[in-house]
Amino acid sequence: MLELVQLSRRFGDKLAVAGANLTFARGEMVGIIGRSGAGKSTLLRLINRLIEPSDGRVIADGTDVTALRGRELRAWRARTAMIFQQFNLVNRLDVLTNVLCGRLYHMSTARVLFKVFTPAERAMAVHVLDRLGITDIAMNRADALSGGQQQRVAIARALMQEPAMILADEPIASLDPMNAKIVMDALLDINQREGITVLTNLHTLDTARTYCQRIIGMSAGLIVFDGKPEALTDAVLRSIYGQSGDGQAVDEQLTSTSLPMLARPAVAR
Ligand SMILES: Nc1ncnc2c1ncn2[C@@H]1O[C@H](COP(=O)(O)OP(=O)(O)O)[C@@H](O)[C@H]1O
Ligand SMILES: [Mg+2]
Repeated sequence: MLELVQLSRRFGDKLAVAGANLTFARGEMVGIIGRSGAGKSTLLRLINRLIEPSDGRVIADGTDVTALRGRELRAWRARTAMIFQQFNLVNRLDVLTNVLCGRLYHMSTARVLFKVFTPAERAMAVHVLDRLGITDIAMNRADALSGGQQQRVAIARALMQEPAMILADEPIASLDPMNAKIVMDALLDINQREGITVLTNLHTLDTARTYCQRIIGMSAGLIVFDGKPEALTDAVLRSIYGQSGDGQAVDEQLTSTSLPMLARPAVAR
């Protein structure tokens, strides 16, 4: 279980995340929605400790993550794998090596320096590539891939970390609808089959509704909604995406569908 207690982050006089109190059970698939600047990315980065909190705590199974240092902090970052909108692969390396890089958290500095991977790690990488359906591109350079392929490589790399949780920051914002579906289906499948908790920021409401059984709405750093997709009434959506005057932005969020022609996947919950 992961608990955020009064978690806050200030940038200058701006409160990017303002006193977030949230609890996540193991195995949840959670969508975080809100306008640009609402604090979604900061929230995910605070959990992974890419960003340090100004106030409050992150507690994982009773351990205060906020206090971890050195080796323990590295282990925490391995357990909370990040996925980014821009994939963040090493362009000049092939897919297999990019995926193996997910093991870096678990390796000694010497092994990292000489990029020495064990046979067991290589076997694991092959398994993970197969899991994501991208074995055929294992030897391709990362910069020769489509966006959808790159994001699947990034997910494969994340799995190599053996994470308890995947933190995905707008994983499909740069993808066309077909690739967006492939990537969201992959995240859902990993969530359901491996029981890995998935927290994902999503820029379209439809995607969050389709894939997540719990949705968190953020506005100006505050958690303004936390519940099931069915509970997202018009009034709630206005509190998340803004009042009239910002009408255009609201309409855009409500009508834009990144997955237009696609059927709802079978969510076995
Ligand atoms: N490194 C930073 N330095 C200064 N301000 C930041 C930084 N990161 C985020 N912010 C500010 O914090 C607020 C929340 O940003 P962010 O978490 O990126 O929102 P979202 O992901 O919902 O678009 C915004 O006002 C943003 O400008
Ligand atoms: Mg963001």
